[in-house]
Amino acid sequence: MTFTIDGKQVLAALDRYLEESRQAKKPVIHQETIETIHEQLDLAAIFREGGLAGSRLDRFLSTYLDNTTRLHHPGYLAHQVGNPHPLAALGSLIDGVTNNAMAIYEMGPAAAAVEFFMVNQLLNRVGWPHMPVDTKQRLSFDHGAGVLTHGGSLANMTALMTARNHLDPALRETGCAGGLAILAPDSCHYSVSKTAGILGIGEKNVVGLPTDRMGRIQPDQVVKSIEKARKKGRSIVALIANACATGTGLFDPIDAIADICKEHSIWFHVDGAHGGSLLFSKKYRHLLAGLEKADSLILDAHKMLRTPTVCAALLVKQAAFLDHAFQHDAGYLFHDKYQPGFDFISQTVECTKAGLGLRFFLAFAALGENGMAKYIDSCVDLTCSAHEYIASQPDFEVPYAPESNILCFRYTNSDTNQLAIRDRLIQEKNFYLSSTSILDRRFLRMVIISPATTLDDIKALVHAIRKTAKLV
Ligand SMILES: Cc1ncc(COP(=O)(O)O)c(C=O)c1O
Repeated sequence: MTFTIDGKQVLAALDRYLEESRQAKKPVIHQETIETIHEQLDLAAIFREGGLAGSRLDRFLSTYLDNTTRLHHPGYLAHQVGNPHPLAALGSLIDGVTNNAMAIYEMGPAAAAVEFFMVNQLLNRVGWPHMPVDTKQRLSFDHGAGVLTHGGSLANMTALMTARNHLDPALRETGCAGGLAILAPDSCHYSVSKTAGILGIGEKNVVGLPTDRMGRIQPDQVVKSIEKARKKGRSIVALIANACATGTGLFDPIDAIADICKEHSIWFHVDGAHGGSLLFSKKYRHLLAGLEKADSLILDAHKMLRTPTVCAALLVKQAAFLDHAFQHDAGYLFHDKYQPGFDFISQTVECTKAGLGLRFFLAFAALGENGMAKYIDSCVDLTCSAHEYIASQPDFEVPYAPESNILCFRYTNSDTNQLAIRDRLIQEKNFYLSSTSILDRRFLRMVIISPATTLDDIKALVHAIRKTAKLV
């Protein structure tokens, strides 16, 4: 009963929050100091006394929500963090209440079954045969496999660990003696070098592939890089392509690179944390052409698939390479048992794992596949229109035509001024942009991800930047 009363209060507050955000009635970003927020929320007293309810809960909620960054606001144009559908957010609530740690089937049959379903939907989209429900067939090379992870960084790590074990299964037990390398463009996400450090490959052994000026792999240079690495006695764990690059949103030519990797027997991993969502697009799916030739892929549902943070997927073409990648001695978990379903535990770093599949499924349950495609296409379409508009302004510079919902641009000005403009816009609280460097020059960066954003908002942003630039 208390749960229903508190729950109604929370849902009512969140409803108001969504409306205020979509209609830009509250700031897109509002940053107080940590001390101020502690004080405003009365954290110390509530922590001591407990029993938060009634009007005190209302006050707590409204203060908390006023100190959030509003991703549903039309001026939210900053980072690649998704705009969760409310139904998908309810999935996080259901998961929070049931708390089924579903990495072993008996601890969450519904959650495990939904995750199994979603992984198979993704495998189907890529064009890889899906996992059989008959779990005795799991070790096969004839079908794909996958698992949902707590984020793309963990998914990349799992993919590269699978690639490392594929290169030499003994390394899992013996550790790496050296001489390993990962080939990737310098534009790859930093989770790749982080992984190289964690897995004992070595951050310095992530070898940059030749790229064009915008950081896209040049396929005609790839063979030379492979030969050079091998001549130096290096064993190549994997070659990684971006789909798309975090900074620019540009795609590497997957199809051509896949052929080269196959010819040279190299594990080909596609980091589709952001752009992998185009698997569900009607208009832009072609940017992922050749993806089915890869060995592994990651994608973040919590970026472009209307799913609350976090929910990433790791997929591999051949299940056998992922299967039992992580099984260790744990007498309380691994033993003979009645097994009507599928244990994800041997495919994942995590032991206690949330039921991430439900929030992901519920995003589709709200929109359907067509609705999801429409959302993705409209974000990319609007980014193309924004590019056209900004490029036509004489005092703005746009270094490339976008291929996704990420666009870098610059107000004709010095490097430091781009950051000063961004800071000033944040203080004004109507627009929230990110920033990146390309070719050692500082750019403003927008990610169009809120369904509330329109071309008029982009025009208003351009106007605000001009006004702001005079003040910095
Ligand atoms: C290309 C790419 N790979 C990996 C990641 C890491 O994903 P996560 O933030 O979910 O750990 C990101 C995040 O932005 C990304 O853009």
